Parts: sequence; C-alpha cells; structure tokens
Amino acid sequence: MTRIIHITDLHFWRLVWNPALLCNKRLLGNLNLALRRRHYVRQERAESFLALYRSLDADAVLIGGDMTTTGTNAEYKLAAAFVNELAQVGPPVFMVAGNHDLYTFEAQRKHRFESYFSDRLQEPEKPQLTYMPGDIPLLLVPTAKPNLLSSRGAITGAQLVATRRLLEERAPDRLLVLAHYPILDNPAVYNNGVLRRLGNAEALRRVLGVSGCPTLYLAGHVHRFSHARDPRFQNLTQLTTRALFYEKDDCPGGFTEILFDKDACTVYPWRYCDGWERASEPSAC
Ligand SMILES: [Fe+2]
Ligand SMILES: [Fe+2]
Repeated sequence: MTRIIHITDLHFWRLVWNPALLCNKRLLGNLNLALRRRHYVRQERAESFLALYRSLDADAVLIGGDMTTTGTNAEYKLAAAFVNELAQVGPPVFMVAGNHDLYTFEAQRKHRFESYFSDRLQEPEKPQLTYMPGDIPLLLVPTAKPNLLSSRGAITGAQLVATRRLLEERAPDRLLVLAHYPILDNPAVYNNGVLRRLGNAEALRRVLGVSGCPTLYLAGHVHRFSHARDPRFQNLTQLTTRALFYEKDDCPGGFTEILFDKDACTVYPWRYCDGWERASEPSAC
C-alpha cells in the first residue's frame, strides 16, 4: 500500500509595513490580510501538522501551491522552513506553484518560487511526468500566473502540447495529476467565479480525458474538499483539498490522505477541529 498526503493553500503570511513594498497589487493583498485573512489562516498550526505528519508513515507529500499570501521574501522564508521540515521526515516532496506564490509580477520576475524551492523543482514552468514511491506516475502541471487584479490561472498552448506528448510517449497505466486550479465546476461544494478560474481549463480536461488513462486530478485554490467524477470523461476524477491552516465556519482547514493498493484508490479527507481529525469513512465519488 502507498500512502500519499496532499496539502495545499498554506498561505503563510507576514504583514508588510514597508511602503516601498506596497506600490503594487500587494497593497490590496496586505489590506485584505490585515483585516481578514490573518484571522483565519492559523499558521501556528504548522508544528502540530508536522508532528502528525511524522506519525502518518506517508510515502510522499504533494503540495498544491499558494504557499504564501502576497509572495514576499518574508512569507517565502516561512514557507521554505516548513517545507524543509517536511522533507526532513523522509518521504519525497513534490510541489507546484499557486497564484499567491506569483502574487505580483515582481515575485515572478525575481523567480522567488523557483529560488526558495530549487531543491524540489526541475523545470517548474514545464509539465513534468515523474514517478512516486509505488511506481505511481505523477504529472505536475503548472497553472499559476501573476495577474494585475484577478486570481485567474493559465495553461499555455505549449504546456498543453507538452502534456499531451508526455501522456502519449510514456503511456502511463494510471495517473495522479498535481495542479493548483480545478478543471471541473462543482457548484455544490465551491463557486469558482470567472475571475478565479483556470483559463483553458476545458482544454486541459480534454487532454486528460481523451488519453483514457485512469486519472486522479488533485487541485487546491477553492479551499474546500470535493471528490467528483467528470461527467464527460469517466476516466477522470477530481479531488480538491482544504486549505491546510484555514479556520472558517464554512471552510475548515485540513488535508487529504490518498491510499493506493494495487489498482484501488481510497481517499480520506482530514479536517482541523480542536485537533486533526480523519474522516471515519473514505470519500466516495
Ligand atoms: Fe489559496
Ligand atoms: Fe489559489
């Protein structure tokens, strides 16, 4: 049996007081952080999560992006320290960027995500097909980009071609995909408005769907747990995971545990409610 832990949307935060760092989108982000987000992103839970993670006997941890809130060096240092502690536990760490990691064009221009996580990334702007313990194929798909005001993501035509080519050439018999943005609408669980969606999501969905490969697509960004089969492509299932440190009445924090046993895959959502709790029953989709 192979145990995979999916965490996402950590949103490490640090308020900015230097006006020179607030002359871009970060001014709005910092205001939102000061008034709202810092009250419900409980980053002080990092220690208790690490203690739990050490006890889970995981084979790999997948991180779905939004490591930071406004993409500053101070936030990246917190995020990198956390990821280094995760890595010291032993199992490999795989990760992709979220839109908050590229919160400003400056964060992208300075390649902060790549430089703080250089040990765990190869070519973060290209789709990569790698193998996890248990020989489980993992496709890493970059979907984040900086925006002036919105939270939209993007996958380029070249990235779609590269994804299709990887699937054709390597012909995996099953697939786990790690990305930041969902590709399916799931209005019963989350409302992903047009300014928050992945542009070209349909094209990525089609590439994965027509491949015919049994695929579990892991996303974050919507900060809620969901687990649903694509109504059009029966080989495609999407799972979205809670924001790790969130504490909102309608949006608790948590992560997801995925167990692979031969061809079977079982999913258990965890949530934080006065402590880390695993769902008593696996999620069915
Ligand atoms: Fe997020
Ligand atoms: Fe996001």
